[in-house]
Amino acid sequence: MRVLLIGSGGREHALARSLAASPLCEALYIAPGNPGTARHGTNLALDISDHPAVIAACRARAVDFVVVGPEAPLVAGLVDDLAAAGIRAFGPSRAAAQLEGSKSFTKELARDLGVPTAAFRRFTEAVAAKAYLRERGVPIVVKADGLAAGKGVVVADTVAEAESAIDAMLGGALGRAGAEIVLEERLVGREASFFALCDGAHALPFGTAEDHKRAFDGDGGPNTGGMGAFSPASVLDPALEEEVLDRIIRPTLGGMLARGAPFVGILYAGLMITAEGPQLIEYNVRFGDPEAQVLLPRLRTDLLAAMIAATDGVLDEVRPDWSDFPAVAVVLASRGYPGPVETGSVIGGLDAAEALDHVTVFQAGTAERGGEIVAAGGRVLAVTGLGPSLAEARARAYEGVARIDWPESFHRRDIASRALDAG
Ligand code: AMP
Ligand code: GLY
Repeated sequence: MRVLLIGSGGREHALARSLAASPLCEALYIAPGNPGTARHGTNLALDISDHPAVIAACRARAVDFVVVGPEAPLVAGLVDDLAAAGIRAFGPSRAAAQLEGSKSFTKELARDLGVPTAAFRRFTEAVAAKAYLRERGVPIVVKADGLAAGKGVVVADTVAEAESAIDAMLGGALGRAGAEIVLEERLVGREASFFALCDGAHALPFGTAEDHKRAFDGDGGPNTGGMGAFSPASVLDPALEEEVLDRIIRPTLGGMLARGAPFVGILYAGLMITAEGPQLIEYNVRFGDPEAQVLLPRLRTDLLAAMIAATDGVLDEVRPDWSDFPAVAVVLASRGYPGPVETGSVIGGLDAAEALDHVTVFQAGTAERGGEIVAAGGRVLAVTGLGPSLAEARARAYEGVARIDWPESFHRRDIASRALDAG
């Protein structure tokens, strides 16, 4: 099989590493990729929003399977366009990607199917949204309907905060993503991420994780794309996982199938584990970043074979086997992230960190300059450690971090503490 992986983040470095390890993988291309993915295949400088160019690249290199990492190309219909060109691709169609592409689509689907989720209302007019806000009071959550790269959710504790979020989003601060908004009840509990590999009709549990979204220790500072993660999730047990499958994942798959938009790919459920049981916060239609960097190193069976089976609708042939070792990933970001950052600083110690047992360094916002790896973005590295216990996995991840020589970076020092301190 000749494989093209779409994307360029740390998630894609983790995907590239697992795909390249598959005995089925004869050649691996990554578009556009990063210096980390280049260690496992050949990077192609392609504009991935140019679907005809992606199709032409597949034909030129006899690619027969495409794996789409990020949500934007899925929502833009890359899998549909590849399928129309006769090229098999792993990931949901444009219609099925609405589960991430439109919050109001997902909220209405959940309501219609009886999937537990926060009470909500949709708005396109600020006056009506504010009237609802006054009626419901605070706390309340204001969300942009469309993809907003992590900037589309405001959990408001005061009316003033909620009103300014309403005005900003409907006023165009997020572009088209905020032309419609959702106001919803704030859920209270512990968050967890649940992953399912889906073939349109069936769902196979594919790991759990928890991430750390705030920039600084103690969950302070602004929201980010994720500053670290660990797997498995500490708040889920087998009984809760069965409940998530039964009450959330399976009804969603059935509902999508009934609507003529079967979901094929990775369904990532963001959950709040409340006193009343698990509730759906949101869906993503792909692996998480940095969740992939803790999930995939624990997968002992063939990722590519599993993706092909899901795409071909024969998921029952897949028996994933996971390491008993938990994993912890610590993200190193450029100072200033998630705001503006300076790029170009030299990153040393990558080989020294990777020389440690059970430590892998995944690259995201990096570039190569004269044989050196330099910072080229906000989130730059994720250092993953595996160990016989969560505490040991964390210790190894931080040993790896300590060997990275990059003074212009920052990272959280409390990844996975949430689970460890709770005992
Ligand atoms: P999202 O960008 O959709 O992943 O949401 C970002 C974060 O906002 C989630 O991980 C939650 O921490 C929080 N959040 C979203 N919706 C709710 C809700 N209804 N209640 C409480 N927190 C929420
Ligand atoms: N880490 C959150 C996400 O990938 O959406």
